[in-house]
Formats: sequence, structure tokens, C-alpha cells
Amino acid sequence: MAETTNWTPESWRNRPLVQMPEYPDTAALVRAEARLRGYPPLVFAGEARSLKRSLAQVAEGHAFLLQGGDCAESFSDFHPNNIRDTFRILLQMAVVLTFGGSLPVVKVGRMAGQFAKPRSAPTEVIGGVEMPSFRGDMINGAEAALAARRPDPERMVQAYNQSAATLNLLRAFAQGGYANLQSVHQWNLDFLADTPQAHRYNDLANRIDEAMSFMAACGVTPELVTQMRETDFYTSHEALHLNYEQALTRVDSTTGDWYDCSAHLLWIGDRTRQIDGAHVEFLRGVGNPLGVKAGPSMPIDDLLRLCDILNPDNEPGRLTVIARMGADAVAEKLPPLVRAIKAEGRKVVWSCDPMHGNTEKVASGLKTRDFERILAEVRGFFAVHAAEGTHAGGVHFELTGQNVTECIGGASAVTEETLGLRYETACDPRLNADQSLELAFLLAGHLKAERDKARNARRAAAK
Ligand code: PEP
Ligand code: CO
Repeated sequence: MAETTNWTPESWRNRPLVQMPEYPDTAALVRAEARLRGYPPLVFAGEARSLKRSLAQVAEGHAFLLQGGDCAESFSDFHPNNIRDTFRILLQMAVVLTFGGSLPVVKVGRMAGQFAKPRSAPTEVIGGVEMPSFRGDMINGAEAALAARRPDPERMVQAYNQSAATLNLLRAFAQGGYANLQSVHQWNLDFLADTPQAHRYNDLANRIDEAMSFMAACGVTPELVTQMRETDFYTSHEALHLNYEQALTRVDSTTGDWYDCSAHLLWIGDRTRQIDGAHVEFLRGVGNPLGVKAGPSMPIDDLLRLCDILNPDNEPGRLTVIARMGADAVAEKLPPLVRAIKAEGRKVVWSCDPMHGNTEKVASGLKTRDFERILAEVRGFFAVHAAEGTHAGGVHFELTGQNVTECIGGASAVTEETLGLRYETACDPRLNADQSLELAFLLAGHLKAERDKARNARRAAAK
């Protein structure tokens, strides 16, 4: 159970608070919070516990975590095709990883709630006018106008409604037949039809088909086996906007514990992980599985303190450390943290976010990420875990199933010049479907190597 001494759903309000908006109309904020408190939970505590059990398998080295989705969901891009395409690319990646790594893959979307963003400065100057920075559609509007940038608490209610509809569709996709392994060919996206990744994926789908036919001949079919017909898909977002998170926090009637029912997994960003800060205070008291981002400035002592506070019972699956060091820093900055966690016997899932340490601005002013640097950080992450004898547990990507041009490189060769063609993100640059699949194949290779190494070690020990 979480350490809940002196914790209440609002004890965060007495702690230093960063990265939160100041609402000009506090009465309107109180009204919006009250409405949200009366709305149904988006997820159930039992589901959060089943994700925690799956993540415990990851922590023990028996499964792999795949987490991904938009940097920021937006009100204007709310469309069933976007939800379907993100779900579908995650399914494709999961199949590649499961097949290549012979490991169960725990699928978690950055979806159905990822609407609030931390910013490097509270204001920015556009066209000579200083205005509040855009903080995500849950808080204010992206449009460069003072009126749009004014934080409006009604946006929390709209974010809740969009999350509910998104989750409804995700549940239907996961359990209503779309994720049936017999459809493995149909998940290939039309615009990928003739790319090297699509060919690799089709080869793999053929092999899965063959295995399925063999199983069917033996009497094992999707009609009989739920796992072949349905999948577990979970939601997550950065728990940044604490008024919203508090309003969706409820007591679970089964256990009597508090759960944040806005998503299955919540994480703390690299800018809000202060030990005595409001975000750590809030999340320590809820029973959900949690993540914490660890950038290159994370001190070893802080990470151990965060384990003490967020996972006092050292429960595997409770805490995922999402390292986002940057391609150049990962080899130097990650090993001391991994060693300290191992030496202290802390049970965590190690996940790699190769996006946020590799963001750059090009001459046109657009933010991008170089696919080669993303790959380099992933490789570096696996190399560190191979050297330390720990499990490279998962990955955390900003991606979309759409054919966008936001990250440079990859087989589809997006360049600095072509970035502007389909640059559609509401915040940071995302991998497109082709780049995501390419990464999945690379990851599958690493997982297979990790598995072969473990098997050889077992055989050598048995001799
Ligand atoms: C994010 O995940 O979108 C984010 C802001 O990451 P970080 O906290 O690691 O900078
Ligand atoms: Co981001």
C-alpha cells in the first residue's frame, strides 16, 4: 500500500507548486472542479491494479513495456481516425516486439488525458506582445492571442469529455475484435504499403498466420482463447494539472484506497519531480502505477528518495523510472542511477524515453528530433542494461500512426526541407508510423539478444 501518512487528496495544496496555471477567475475554477468530482471515473481501480501486476512482470524481467502516443492531445485533432491509427501502430509495434523478443508486451497509450504541458517559460513574446505560454488544451488555447492564452477551467471539463470518448473507442478496439490476432495483416497502414518496414511487417504477419493455422489445426482458436482475440490496453498521461487529477481521485470501494481514476498510469515530469513539491506529494497517495522521468540532472540521492516516497513498500510494478538522458549523455548519466537502484535492491521498471533529451530547433524555427539520435539513445539504454545485468524494461515514445513529417530521418527520409509538409503536432515532434515500426524492429533485435544471453547463461549454469 502507498505511504499515506498525513496524505489527503488535497495535501499537495500546501506544497511548493510549479508549472501550474494561474486562473484569473477562481470561482470558475472551483465550479469546474466540483463538476468533475461529480462525474464518473474514467478508469477503475481494479484495472490500475492489473496494470501494476503486468508492470511487476516487467520489473522482474519477464515482460516489456511499450508506452506511446502524442506529446499533447488536442481538441482540434479529436477524430476517430487519429485514435485508431495511434492504437494500430502501437498494436503493430507490440506484435513485432512480442514475436522478436518472445516476451509479453504491456501496452500503454499516452492517450485519453495527455492534455497539460510543462513549459520552459511562463510567458513568451509573439509579434511584440508578451502573452502566457500555451500549456496544453486542458489549460489554455494555442492560438497566439491574449484571449486564447487566458487559462479557462472549463477546458478541464472538455478534456475530461474527450478523454471519456477516446477511452470508449480504445476499449472497443481492444476488446471488440479489432485486436484479434487473425487481423494482424489488416493493421498495416495503407500509406506504408510499399516501404521496407511494411514488407518486414508483412513477412512477420505471414509467420504469425502460419503459427495461428497450426494452432487452429490443434484446436486452439481465438474463439476459445481470449488472449488471441482481445488485448489489454492501458492509458497514461503526465499528472501535471493537479486540480484535474484531484477531482478524479476516488476511494476504491474494494480496498478503501485512493486511486486517481483519470488514467491507469500517471507519471511525474522531469520539471515537477521536486522531492518536497506538490506533484510528488499528490502522487504518493494514490494506488495507481506511477512513472517518474529522470533527465541528466537527476541526482542519485533524489532518485532513491523518490523511490522511498513513491514506493515505500518496494512493490514491483508500482514505479517506472523513465530515463530521458539524450543520446550524448546516456552512456555517462544512466549507469550510476541503474547501479544505485540495483545496489539498494529497489524494484523499478527501467524505461527509455529517447525523445525529450534529443529535441532541437532547425533554422525554420520548427522543433525536431533526429531519428539517428533517437536510435542512438535506445541503443545506449540497452547497452547500459546489458553491462549492468539489469532488464531494459521498456520504451516511452512520442508517436502517431499518421504519416507526419516531424522527426528528421528514418527510411522515409524526412529532411529539414520537408519537415514543413505535414508538421501537425500540438507540441513536440512525433515519430511517424514508418519510423515507429523501424524502431520496433530495432528493439525486437535487442530483446532477442537479451533473451539469448539469458538462455545461454542458464544453460552454462546447468552444465
Ligand atoms: C513529456 O513527456 O511530454 C515531457 C514534457 O517530458 P519531460 O518531463 O521528460 O521533459
Ligand atoms: Co513531449
